[in-house]
Amino acid sequence: MPDDEEMVVTPWEVRGKMDYDRLIELFGTQRITPELKEKLYKMAGEEHIMLRRDLFFSHRDLDWILTEYEKGNKFIIYTGRGPSGHVHIGHLVPWIFTKWMQEKFGTRLYFQLTDDEKYFFTPDLSLDDVKRYTYENALDLLAIGFEPENTYVIQDIEHIDMMYELAVQVAKKVTFSTAKAVFGFENSMNIGGIWYPAMQAVPAFLHSWIYGTKTPCIIPCAIDQDPHWRVTRDVAERLGYYKPASIQNKFVPGLHEGGKMSASDPMSAIFTTDTPKQARKKVMAAYTGGRDTAEEQRKLGANPDICTVFMYYDFLFMPDDKELAEIERKCRGGEILCGECKQILAPRIMEFLEKHQAAREEVKDRVHEFSAARLREDIRR
Ligand code: TRP
Repeated sequence: MPDDEEMVVTPWEVRGKMDYDRLIELFGTQRITPELKEKLYKMAGEEHIMLRRDLFFSHRDLDWILTEYEKGNKFIIYTGRGPSGHVHIGHLVPWIFTKWMQEKFGTRLYFQLTDDEKYFFTPDLSLDDVKRYTYENALDLLAIGFEPENTYVIQDIEHIDMMYELAVQVAKKVTFSTAKAVFGFENSMNIGGIWYPAMQAVPAFLHSWIYGTKTPCIIPCAIDQDPHWRVTRDVAERLGYYKPASIQNKFVPGLHEGGKMSASDPMSAIFTTDTPKQARKKVMAAYTGGRDTAEEQRKLGANPDICTVFMYYDFLFMPDDKELAEIERKCRGGEILCGECKQILAPRIMEFLEKHQAAREEVKDRVHEFSAARLREDIRR
């Protein structure tokens, strides 16, 4: 990828070379400071690798929501996934963090599967495709190990009866010109897509609406979703709710140069449905910061900063800081070649996949235990 390619980050398109400092500025979010990390660690009772390594780097109102929690005003967690295809390892990353939050703070999770969104926004995707992916993706989600009694999986189409009353209130407060400015909608867009942001706002208020409370909400998500939260925050107080807080992660790269990922190229990411053997093949073919020849690399060293293998170590597969520092040193110094380095990552990813796939099998008959359909009983009309 050319370095000068313009950075584009919207909820529906992410391309170019990422500059996360610039994103914080552009979106008007806050950086997660060392002090804030400490506060979170203290309350959670332990550290988390994804914060330590700055994969989660940006937020809105995280400090506020922690302070509310300290005062006894517990939050709920809201996150989601657009089921447009199979899940890859990168998608699991914020979910792993979300599970940690749920566990450490003992809070409810509302997880939105946006079948409607992906139907509106993906020209070639039929409703049947979306439904199939919704189920498949739910298995991946549940395989992460969320607590069933504290987890509510919302499927927009199936659960619209519980969402519509809130969605219409949001929709009435968002003008078309705001939606165009925030999301870049064009006239050729189908009207379903223009309506959709109202649906993504709903789970932030759903708990408060159902139980007649004013419950804070925090959204762990990739930073490309922030435009949604700007709109959601803008309407929140006018509807009598708190503005949702968020904690935002960087994009987890694919295996090609520049971390590029493409849905049409299966080699560009490791899917949770890949066999461990396929995953191994993908790791061995991954883009690195290595030199053209072994001889050159021994002499000049390689560059971990642009290496996809190294990025996978960084956010999940090499939690030991000393081990990571050591491999970085060897890489830069030409002591280790990319092939050897990949031999370290491959078995870790294979083991992770094997475990994940076993867990995925295990939840197959239990999807209903997590369904937001249970909420219907709690709604007082
Ligand atoms: N729009 C998201 C996607 O395309 C799905 C989503 C819905 C979501 N609600 C969310 C993601 C809340 C993060 C947090 O994947």
